[in-house]
Amino acid sequence: MEAVIIPGDWNVDQILDDLDQHGFSIVDDAYSSEYQHAVSQECLSHLNEFRNAAIQNGVVSNIRSDHILWLRPEFQISHLHTQTLQQFSQALNRAFYLGIKEIEAHFACYHAGEFYALHRDNPQAKNGRMISSVYYLHEQWQADWGGELRLQDKNGQWHIIQPQPNRIVLFQSDLLHEVLISKQQRLSITAWLRSDTALV
Ligand code: OGA
Ligand code: MN
Repeated sequence: MEAVIIPGDWNVDQILDDLDQHGFSIVDDAYSSEYQHAVSQECLSHLNEFRNAAIQNGVVSNIRSDHILWLRPEFQISHLHTQTLQQFSQALNRAFYLGIKEIEAHFACYHAGEFYALHRDNPQAKNGRMISSVYYLHEQWQADWGGELRLQDKNGQWHIIQPQPNRIVLFQSDLLHEVLISKQQRLSITAWLRSDTALV
């Protein structure tokens, strides 16, 4: 098996401590800039395949207006990110007994004017999503471009998190959060660390 390692500068103990204390953690400069450019290119090269995320099984919801593309094994560059998350899950399982078995991930693209209203990724433990992660792929982001992740931590405190390029935000999937209206093209990989295996 190919050896996949968590980048050496990730402070795993700090991330685990943040998750424990606050229910979320932010990893800045998560990967090399070479990797970030490569994954961004991989995402952009598939933009014509993205689908309206609001339509599921023919049912249209008005809670979100972003576009997504589920990751496939042939997306080799983004696959390295999910492998890193898979490895990080082992540390989470050891620390918190979360029983994470699988990573589920898609690219997301918010065009100007798009948003994702207040929601939880795993309301009332109805699915196996334990930890949500968002990795921001666009090449730059300015503070007045909107598109912030607004998240309520496990102690009830609200945080407004900028979608900084090369940042990963990890949070408990049961926490309330939203993506504020973006004014620019906003690219990411959303991945869920799941304690069940997908029924495919
Ligand atoms: C999601 C989500 C947050 C973000 O995809 O479920 O809440 O910052 N994303 O993109
Ligand atoms: Mn979400």
